[in-house]
Amino acid sequence: MKELSKKVNLAPRSQIRELFNITAGRKDVISLGIGQPDFTTPEPIIKANIKALEDGITMYAPTRGQPELIELIAKKLKRVNNLDVGTDNVIVTNGGSQAITFSFATLFNPGDELILSSPNFISYFYCGIFYGIKVIESKRKEDFSPNIDDIKDKITDKTKAILINSPNNPTGYVLTKKEIEDITDIVIENDLYLISDEAYENYLYDDAIHISPASLNGMQERTVTLNAMSKLFSATGIRLGYVAAPTYIIDLMEKYQQYTVAGTNHAAQFGFIAALKMDSQFFEKILKDYNARRLFCYKRLSEMGFDVVKPKGAFYIMPGISNFKISSDDFSKKIIEEKGVAIVPGSIFGSFSDDKLRISYATSLKNLEIAMDRIEDFTKSF
Ligand SMILES: Cc1ncc(COP(=O)(O)O)c(C=O)c1O
Repeated sequence: MKELSKKVNLAPRSQIRELFNITAGRKDVISLGIGQPDFTTPEPIIKANIKALEDGITMYAPTRGQPELIELIAKKLKRVNNLDVGTDNVIVTNGGSQAITFSFATLFNPGDELILSSPNFISYFYCGIFYGIKVIESKRKEDFSPNIDDIKDKITDKTKAILINSPNNPTGYVLTKKEIEDITDIVIENDLYLISDEAYENYLYDDAIHISPASLNGMQERTVTLNAMSKLFSATGIRLGYVAAPTYIIDLMEKYQQYTVAGTNHAAQFGFIAALKMDSQFFEKILKDYNARRLFCYKRLSEMGFDVVKPKGAFYIMPGISNFKISSDDFSKKIIEEKGVAIVPGSIFGSFSDDKLRISYATSLKNLEIAMDRIEDFTKSF
């Protein structure tokens, strides 16, 4: 048989998804592996989705998305993110994941370079390969902040874009205003694009604030802003997200959408419309709970001897395991086998995190208490 696609073959199967499969149906396993909030999707979203189906919304959706949805997304971006956007600047996608592939498909040519701070979200690395992009990793500092000088040093004549994800998966790091300005200065000085993945913009703790770089001077015309309903509305399975960008980029994305997926789930878009009409107060109590979980995990992991940076955003914590003299892959494999705790090895988030784990605290405090006791038992055996 002739060889199959090298590009796709090169990417390993997602270890997060593998963990998802191992833990599914196993009552003894506590999963700290999946980036999925544990609260119920708000009722107005479900009801609007069902109503749309009952009303016969089962035909293809407009390629860019339902006009009312696009209008609401543009309004939200103006009101919350301070972006100067209209309906021509938005396209609806199949989750944040497709927002990433749209950006990669439309901004890059094979051989172009994309710089990101590492560790970072797994998909950037492998989607990069699918589109022939050379992903250049700039190692984060010990506290997971970006190394601005190193990013500058990594610019070449092939650099096309910088990608940021703040609040960050997997580190929980939130960029400061100064860091965002430093990065946008580099982007402007070198005539680059900026991809800003803002999927966790609502998960902020302590004094952290979220700033959309497209709202800064001169950035609107060169920034591709990505987001999704997955994390804020606990709706990862609904698969809806969006991109906001200059019209000429959105036009390319629309063309790409026409020939690849043709559009997103039509009825589900009515659920997203309902979501954007909701009063966001529903999230305040949830965030309080997540904050308590964050502080609990930080305290317990620090006490056990992990190197821990207190995260300021998202719902992940990335403890260092160098004290335990074990690779992250072995830690992850052994702890699920021996103690029934699913944890993602840091090795999948780039080249600099094999001495780290990613723990998602999007599960109840009670589960976290049991999981932390099991982790403690496990580390005592070292
Ligand atoms: C940083 C980041 N961007 C994008 C996504 C993909 O989001 P979605 O589930 O909406 O495709 C994720 C999912 O975990 C993520 O962590």
